[in-house]
Amino acid sequence: LKSITFALAKGRLSDISIGIFEKLGYDVSQMKEKSRKLIFYDEKNKIKFILVKASDVPTYVEYQAADIGIVGYDTILEEGRHVYEMLNLSFGNCKMCVCGRPEMKDSFYKIHNLKVATKYPNIAKEFFEKEKKMGAEIIKLNGSVELAPLTGLSEVIVDIVESGKTLVENGLCVFEEICDISARLIVNRVSLKMERERINDIVEKIKGVII
Ligand code: PRP
Repeated sequence: LKSITFALAKGRLSDISIGIFEKLGYDVSQMKEKSRKLIFYDEKNKIKFILVKASDVPTYVEYQAADIGIVGYDTILEEGRHVYEMLNLSFGNCKMCVCGRPEMKDSFYKIHNLKVATKYPNIAKEFFEKEKKMGAEIIKLNGSVELAPLTGLSEVIVDIVESGKTLVENGLCVFEEICDISARLIVNRVSLKMERERINDIVEKIKGVII
């Protein structure tokens, strides 16, 4: 019997993801040790887990290097990979937002060629150019995006807001909400065809523990 490979996003979602598999009775003891290992086997249940940088999870699933992935909807939207979204896992809830300094809130949309700093250039481009029909200069950053409007790098940012703590502590606020984000279970379409029964069985079990 071939193993089913799960790609789990490292970082914010990983502990909850591992907790789900623990509840399902899979052997996750090694994964919980926080070693540098990237690949783990549960021989008994024929499951393989790989720990992947969040933005790479859809890539592993699209190319069938993993059969199933757990990743945020933000990453799914940004990466635009060809994967089948099978289940909203309803954890890791947050919102994709346009944010900036409070004094800009009522005037930012009038700025010609608005500068937008973000870890999500595709989402930002789609929102400002397609939805808002505004000219925008998208500036790709890799973290601590909140610094951009504080240093003059950009007028606004597009980023996820979870508790809102990072915004408050840096004197920023939400201008507009783009969409709701949560963790999703994605599946490779060929895997789903070949292993429909096993994958459906796992998905049903996951549904049972997340409610
Ligand atoms: C994310 C996000 C915000 C923050 C939001 O960054 O980009 O900065 O968390 O969370 P909050 O509303 O609960 O404060 P992350 O911590 O992943 O770090 P990064 O900026 O280095 O990417």
